[in-house]
Amino acid sequence: MSKILLTSALPYANGSIHLGHMVEHVQSDIFARFKRSMGADILFVCADDTHGTAIELRAETLGITPEELIAAALEEHTADFRGFRIDFDEYYTTHSPENQALSAMVYERLRDGGHIVRRTTQQLYSAALGRFLSDRMVKGTCPKCGTADQYGDVCESCGSTYDPTELIAPYDIHTKTAPELRETENLYVRLTDFAPLLREWMETGVGQEPIRNFVRGWLDGGLDDWCITRAAPYFGFPVPGEPDKYFYVWLDAPIGYIAATQHACERRGGDWRDFWSADADAEIHHNIGKDIVYFHTLFWPAMLHAAGLRKPSQIHVHGMLTVNGRKMSKSRGTFVNARTYLEHLDPDYLRYYYAAKLGGTAEDIDLNTEDFVLRVNAELVNNVVNLCSRVTKFCVSRFGGHPGDFDPADYPLCATIAAAMEQAKAAYEAWDTRSAIRAIVEAGNEANVFFQDAAPWVLVKEDEAAARRVCAVALHAATSLVVALAPVTPGLADRLAAALGVEKLGWDATAPGWRPPALTAPDRLLDRIDPAATEAMMAASVETPTRTDVLDVESFSDLIPFDTFAAVDLRVGVVDEAHTVEGADKLLRLIVHCGKQIQVFAGVRKAYPDPSVLVGRRVVVVANLQPRKMRFGTSEGMLLATSGPDDVGLQLVHPDPSTLGGWTVR
Ligand code: 2FM
Ligand code: ZN
Repeated sequence: MSKILLTSALPYANGSIHLGHMVEHVQSDIFARFKRSMGADILFVCADDTHGTAIELRAETLGITPEELIAAALEEHTADFRGFRIDFDEYYTTHSPENQALSAMVYERLRDGGHIVRRTTQQLYSAALGRFLSDRMVKGTCPKCGTADQYGDVCESCGSTYDPTELIAPYDIHTKTAPELRETENLYVRLTDFAPLLREWMETGVGQEPIRNFVRGWLDGGLDDWCITRAAPYFGFPVPGEPDKYFYVWLDAPIGYIAATQHACERRGGDWRDFWSADADAEIHHNIGKDIVYFHTLFWPAMLHAAGLRKPSQIHVHGMLTVNGRKMSKSRGTFVNARTYLEHLDPDYLRYYYAAKLGGTAEDIDLNTEDFVLRVNAELVNNVVNLCSRVTKFCVSRFGGHPGDFDPADYPLCATIAAAMEQAKAAYEAWDTRSAIRAIVEAGNEANVFFQDAAPWVLVKEDEAAARRVCAVALHAATSLVVALAPVTPGLADRLAAALGVEKLGWDATAPGWRPPALTAPDRLLDRIDPAATEAMMAASVETPTRTDVLDVESFSDLIPFDTFAAVDLRVGVVDEAHTVEGADKLLRLIVHCGKQIQVFAGVRKAYPDPSVLVGRRVVVVANLQPRKMRFGTSEGMLLATSGPDDVGLQLVHPDPSTLGGWTVR
């Protein structure tokens, strides 16, 4: 039997685990638990992803060292995963001696194989931060469509990709100062060396057809060299033999999968090479979100190949989580941290809901909070759990915990249960938990109808032996359903196991002849979700800007003379018309009256999907700006706006509605 290594993507150490992360970890954990239940030799590992500039800057803001930050994150993340019953065999960190040694080894093999090239380029450098700026540390105006405040890699408005050096009026997002261009030398992996091998590998390594098409498209389009180093200062591993160069975080992050394997093997007395050497009898499965496919299907197999190691057997890709149909949002209370969820709700509910939605494809899934309550209550609690409670209680109270024997051939329900077990197993194997849940719920419905119709509480008065048989069949059905759900709802399975007098429920308990060694009535298996708990969880997740967010002192950098300020003619205007702009999904075209009528293009569309709400509203206008020709027309002014949460974007500033008259602002 081959060994199986399963990984979830490594969460960044600079933030908390939230319900978006949990989609993947729950999905992986279900697979791991299912495989273990089938007797497979599976090792399930993960780790915190600890390197890079974002972590260093966050530590600086908090006034602690990066090492302190990542140690605290590791503790928090492991507690959150434990709370959700994610049963990792190993949860490690990329900031480990194993990972440093392995990263050096992979790099040296790439270098010795002749796959590394050295190149000097011009990059944006922030003198205020004393470092080069990565794509996501710089914003500016899109060179293609003129939309302001776009990141250094891609414009959210027109979708163009570009180099950060092409941004117009770039600024570093931390200090809001203008960067300069500086030369820097970095090391690159020549990815084209691996194109034929990647083409061959992805035919089996990427099982999902739409994802394979993406990868094929990237390969057909030609691969760029991949920059694997960053100039000092950088929180990461130094590159051997290259003073002042560090490995880019995305080089050592996936190697963290190997380091975590090594750490697990050393603790258990095994050898990581049993999983990772090219000729190992092992399967390697990576579970990832669709946002990091490029790294796992191109860079990663190329690195492994160059290092003479085993390439992934399968990359499993899931979609992103939306909550109530939209991107998670701190202001709406839908950006829920794992810890906040656990303070209000049982982890099995969310595990069940995700499992019921995940069909093994990369489609996004939506956590609709109303549907969540209805569905979990109807399908899980009122159906399977209710059957378990009723049957166990009745068996204990009427038959002292010993229902009778029965011949499965006499009860069509037994065939339904047996079929559902097989369907669930096949579906788990295929990462299609949605189908597994469907099979279990349908069988649960049938089992409830059987128990209700057979009414052993009536039957017992006339024919006790028949009533005992009915109860035994119903108990067999209830137990089997929970065994099949055990990878998804381990808490429920453990509580039923305790009531049945066993330590763990396994597939053996789904045999019609299996009897519980010591049946007692469970106190509580799983309660219905109280909708108030979900509401309280969301209320606890609403984040309003704090005083320090508002008074972001770092942005008070470049002081301007009073005269410069006085030259700005700010006026109160009234919005006469508001229109969307075809071809620019961030912009609105506003006609504003501020003593004269002017046309303004404002990047506020996200906050006002229906622009007509703006008509008649008062706004603050920079009225003496030189007109600017844009692709869509001339913009004759600027409106004051505040940056809202990411999913809302810029929102217009409105003068206090109670102020009266006047066009000028003082
Ligand atoms: O996207 C992310 O959250 C990364 N921290 C995932 C890294 S996965 C792996 F390759 F290390
Ligand atoms: Zn653009």
